[in-house]
Amino acid sequence: MPPVLNTNTICTPPPSTRGRKKAVTFDTVPDIALFTNSLVHIHHGNSLEFYDSWPAPTVIVSDGGYGVLGFEGDTSDHLELPKWYEPHIKAWAAHATAQTTLWFWNSEIGWAAVHPVLEKYGFRYINANVWNKTKAHIAGNVNTAKIRRFPVVTELCVQYAFEARINDVPLKQWMLAEWERTGLPFREANLACGVADAATRKYFDRGHLWYQPPPDKFQMMADYANKHGAAEGRPYFSANGKRSLTAEEWEAMRYKFRCPHGYTNVWERTALHCGERVKAPNGKAAHLNQKPLNLMTLIIKASSDERDVVWEPFGGLFSASLAAWRCGRKAYAAETDSTYYQIGIRRFSEPAPMSLNL
Ligand SMILES: C[S@@+](CC[C@H](N)C(=O)[O-])C[C@H]1O[C@@H](n2cnc3c(N)ncnc32)[C@H](O)[C@@H]1O
Repeated sequence: MPPVLNTNTICTPPPSTRGRKKAVTFDTVPDIALFTNSLVHIHHGNSLEFYDSWPAPTVIVSDGGYGVLGFEGDTSDHLELPKWYEPHIKAWAAHATAQTTLWFWNSEIGWAAVHPVLEKYGFRYINANVWNKTKAHIAGNVNTAKIRRFPVVTELCVQYAFEARINDVPLKQWMLAEWERTGLPFREANLACGVADAATRKYFDRGHLWYQPPPDKFQMMADYANKHGAAEGRPYFSANGKRSLTAEEWEAMRYKFRCPHGYTNVWERTALHCGERVKAPNGKAAHLNQKPLNLMTLIIKASSDERDVVWEPFGGLFSASLAAWRCGRKAYAAETDSTYYQIGIRRFSEPAPMSLNL
């Protein structure tokens, strides 16, 4: 794993507040500002400066500001988070494709504050997943009479998909407009798909119950429309006016998703399994926000294939990149803090990736 750059760059974190409870701060600057191996690119510096040089992401794992002074540059409350995230979200949208999934980690109030910004730039809400760290997280030490609320043992990991568009129209509206052009009644979509009523109900819903037809049903609808629809409007379901989209092209217009058997949107696991917590030389936790590798692996494998590109804009100790590397994905990450960067890249000098067939 040869490091490729040796610039000794000193990075300035974004202007904001100072983080609490940092275990150690190294005096040394990193020997390298970019760590690479065959699948991984990890920069020391502000991710905003690197997005343009990274290949388009299939997955973005965002674990940035929480509004709790969690690290140097985090804000002191959730109200500042939309402003903190907006330049990043704007850049993600500029590089996302119809296959891009964003996993947005945060507290529930942090997510609520940032959600409108994500929507504004075209990230469509899919699902909120709850990481339940269990009672072990509080170890019975909470004075609830003083805090006057239930003790919090959860974080959220919210799934978004980047909205696919054809000729600048969201797929939902495009589907509807294409069928309208045929002059056929909407109920004939059921006939086209060989179902009783599901096609018309799901594929032409105008609201949040809309369901993107799977490739085989899309193909059946396109074939039917081109055979029975008004002759002067053909081809239907075409992006270029010359031929209809193929089932494969349609498949590429939706985010990837495979749920392992038995999983729900509640992920129960204690914060970090024994031995997984990375320690600073003084024995303290090197980064208080280090995420469990198995949850990172879960979301990455659910939403990408081997060799796909995973972005981790707020690296910390690079848990998402490590998980991505270990299951054969390409990882692109950045971390502004020199100490976290130096400790984090050491995690990649451990054993080689697991089998790409995982
Ligand atoms: C919540 S922590 C991420 C922890 C990480 N998920 C892990 O498992 O180790 C956020 C990190 O993002 C870094 N950060 C904040 N703004 C950044 C930026 N613009 N570019 C790169 N890193 C940034 C912070 O220094 C902090 O270490």
